Amino acid sequence: MSTVIDGKSLARTLRSRIKQAVSELQVEHNVVPGLAVVLVGEDPASQVYVRSKARQTVEVGMQSFEHRLSDNTSEGNLVQLVEELNQKMEVNGILVQLPLPGQINAERIINTISANKDVDGFHVENTGRLSIGADSLIPCTPAGCLMLLKHAVGDLSGQNAIILGRSNIVGKPVAQLLLQEHCTVTIAHSRTRDLPSICRQADIVIAAVGIPEMVKGDWIKPGATVIDVGINRITDESENGKLVGDVDHASVSEVAGAITPVPGGVGPMTIACLLQNTIIATCRQRQIKIPEAIS
Ligand code: GUN
Repeated sequence: MSTVIDGKSLARTLRSRIKQAVSELQVEHNVVPGLAVVLVGEDPASQVYVRSKARQTVEVGMQSFEHRLSDNTSEGNLVQLVEELNQKMEVNGILVQLPLPGQINAERIINTISANKDVDGFHVENTGRLSIGADSLIPCTPAGCLMLLKHAVGDLSGQNAIILGRSNIVGKPVAQLLLQEHCTVTIAHSRTRDLPSICRQADIVIAAVGIPEMVKGDWIKPGATVIDVGINRITDESENGKLVGDVDHASVSEVAGAITPVPGGVGPMTIACLLQNTIIATCRQRQIKIPEAIS
């Protein structure tokens, strides 16, 4: 049986360091970091995430600004709101929850956010900087995956890593981060041939495809580390509302050396990394040294 990597506990530790950093900024610089979260529409999963982000922001001592717009909001209205938030001194981080309704071009909205307030790390300036290894705001889920991996494995240098999924939110940025850690990186996707046999060569598997329980135990090299980014709600009659990942936990945990659970793995780390990015953004905007608690 594999070790279960406890994301909940690791995120709790990170949040307590973030809380310490927030208090240091307030005492030494009279600065309270502020995070604005924008939700358009009423997607139930997005509402849960946004509520959770706002609650944790306040719990670590930062200011939370929530903006809720109706499902039929125009792209122009959202651009105007983001531009207003860009101008506000008390707003250090801006996150527009995705997905956005069809009438809004998400890429335009993301690139309207000031790059130095883009705590999601999705702005083209931040993705470009990440790809050349320059200082940037790093997307939160990939940053969380990397922390979980380092916690489980230690030095990642020379490891064979496979990433299942090529999204801009997870697959591509996590590949950049693992390259920086000197892994040999493969990005697999829906057109990849013979995925199970490629997967079996990997020391590290990151599953971010959005297909419930796709990765099976016989795809895994014995002792490999498996990070499950999937959050899928199974809604068939027997398992009403159960959350499962992209990894078939039962069979994979028989073979892997370590594996993240769903829930309680990557999810809690993502929000903790968002709070950390908000502090980093605040310090860069104010030209303050990043507190040691989180550096
Ligand atoms: N929707 C799902 N994941 C994310 C994320 O990391 N950031 C934003 N803005 N929206 C999301």
